[in-house]
Amino acid sequence: MNEFTSGFWSWYITIITVLSLAGVALFLASQRTRRLAPGEKAEEMAHKWDGDLVELNNPLPSWWVKLFWITLIFSAVYLVLYPGLGSFKGVLGWTSWGQYDTEMTEAKAKYDPIFNKFLGQPVEQIAADPEAREMGQRLFLTYCAQCHGSDAHGAKGFPNLTDKDWLYGGDGGTIQASIANGRAGMMPQLAEALGGAEGVKQVANYVLSLSGSPHDARLAAAGKEKFMLCAACHMPDGTGNQTIGAPNLTDKTWLYGGSEASIIETISKGRNGQMPAQLQALGEAKVHLLAAYVYGLGGGMPKPAAPEAAAPAAEQAPAAPMTQ
Ligand code: HEC
Ligand code: HEC
Repeated sequence: MNEFTSGFWSWYITIITVLSLAGVALFLASQRTRRLAPGEKAEEMAHKWDGDLVELNNPLPSWWVKLFWITLIFSAVYLVLYPGLGSFKGVLGWTSWGQYDTEMTEAKAKYDPIFNKFLGQPVEQIAADPEAREMGQRLFLTYCAQCHGSDAHGAKGFPNLTDKDWLYGGDGGTIQASIANGRAGMMPQLAEALGGAEGVKQVANYVLSLSGSPHDARLAAAGKEKFMLCAACHMPDGTGNQTIGAPNLTDKTWLYGGSEASIIETISKGRNGQMPAQLQALGEAKVHLLAAYVYGLGGGMPKPAAPEAAAPAAEQAPAAPMTQ
């Protein structure tokens, strides 16, 4: 209760609480003394209903009064032991933070060795370990399923993690980096740069043509030139760039939908997929297990052989699918 900036509110609460408890006690005590003498009839109050239903002025039933005394005594004992009376901390010194800390420390002592067991092994190797996979799956269902789905198949805007189509890369290290540090996709709004709706429609048809999807050839031909604007991120051939998470537009796997309408929406409004960083919240050991679990879902692939920094991005062919 150290939110109090001055002693005033603490005393205000303390005095009101103590006065109310004392008031209730006094009231109960006063009711105790009023007992019917033997043979005395309870007073009738002035009103009557339905002809013969009357209200009597009987003393309160004693079981009820006793119950009330018990709650009163409970409150008093509670307020002495635990925080509740203004800034008084209670004689037990209990705090919700303290309890949380103790529970967390106990949980860490119990589970850390289990999680840490896999920390030293490469993601690719533990992906094959059934015990690690089971732990990874439980973590995935708790922390990831709300966005990627319990089967990791994803949804519109949330990538499928079970296929070999990766925004950022499907080798162990890249998957782990995606989970640990998060990702932020940045597809800008380009309607204006493309000269309005007509330009957007043309480029959208060109994008459709890249994957051999049904499209209007005349519009696509007009859009081809305008794709210059997109090439910096999606590459001149449209195969995408994993260093910035620009999707491959030449396959039929779509993050936001492959209909003409969804592509038009993507281009005119932009897209900003956010993968929240997990390292801070989950720690290295759990992120490592999760990376192995995701790697083992079917999409994991070895790191591309070419030294990344040296290879021009345009030549970064998608890594060969690994047969499992
Ligand atoms: C709040 C929603 C959300 C949660 C929770 C979430 N993700 Fe994601 N994740 C996303 C989005 C959105 C993307 C795509 C980011 C982008 O568009 O650039 C993504 C991307 C990824 C990628 C990169 C995929 C690729 O194709 O390169 C991986 C791997 C991943 N998430 C794993 C996980 C794991 C494991 C968890 C659980 C710890 C998790 N995510 C939790 C929303 C989420
Ligand atoms: C600054 C880099 C950048 C530019 C320029 C850019 N894009 Fe993108 N684009 C991205 C990124 C990054 C994403 C993924 C967004 C996300 O993950 O939320 C994306 C997503 C898309 C998608 C969605 C793909 C899917 O799988 O649903 C389409 C379609 C697309 N871009 C088309 C275009 C077109 C057409 C142009 C040019 C008119 C263009 N982009 C220009 C970076 C860019």
